[in-house]
Amino acid sequence: MRCSILVENHALPGLTAEHGLSLLIEQNGEAILFDTGAGKALKENCKLMNMNDLPDHVFLSHGHNDHTGGIGLLAGKTVFAAEGIGKKRFSCHPGKPVRDLSMPENTLTFVRISAPAEILPGMYATGPIPRLSGEDCGGPFFLDPEKKTPDTIADEQALLLKEGVLIQGCCHAGIINTLEHCRKYLPDIKIHTIIGGLHLLLADEKRLKQTADYLRKSAVKRLYLLHCTGENAVAYLQAALPACAILTPVAVETITL
Ligand SMILES: [Fe+2]
Ligand SMILES: [Fe+2]
Repeated sequence: MRCSILVENHALPGLTAEHGLSLLIEQNGEAILFDTGAGKALKENCKLMNMNDLPDHVFLSHGHNDHTGGIGLLAGKTVFAAEGIGKKRFSCHPGKPVRDLSMPENTLTFVRISAPAEILPGMYATGPIPRLSGEDCGGPFFLDPEKKTPDTIADEQALLLKEGVLIQGCCHAGIINTLEHCRKYLPDIKIHTIIGGLHLLLADEKRLKQTADYLRKSAVKRLYLLHCTGENAVAYLQAALPACAILTPVAVETITL
């Protein structure tokens, strides 16, 4: 399994960084693009990496535009996404201007994922993830700029590889909910590695402890923490999980397992 980080909040010198995420996942001769970043860096970094073509298959983790901003590059591709990905959505941080986080308008036809499904040999879309763990998965996210209807980001899903690797976009559903969902539907896959954002930027001590306690008892042994995990959360997990390898690669590093 190879995971090349095409877009991330940080990049090696000479590459473009942006707040967003895009990964190229390769496994047993299959390739899939996981998210597209915010739109600028994917094009630039692919050029710098001499990557002339994106794979034929694309997986979108959720509708936020730091993951879907590059969908203009996806004409003719098979794009897997969950219902609701195209909803209008906003972030309304107290004291900050309201930001539109919606996926860009487009004419793509999506392959809709509503339940766990094998989308390529050995690659599984989790489908939408129920929020059952009690993790505090809220945030300043709304379906309207007037902050009337909270956005639970119910269209979010993760990508699970047969070899035991879980790929996350932002993990708004919470990593405990996500791992429990995988365990329920795909119990034969023992997840040992997580790659992606865990959206713990604003997590309080209680949430961080809950996350670390769960991971400590799990089979997860490697965490490649990207994008929206948050520096405090990375430091907390590194201290709380000494038996885990916890790394923070950047664009355009490649993880090979
Ligand atoms: Fe994100
Ligand atoms: Fe997000």
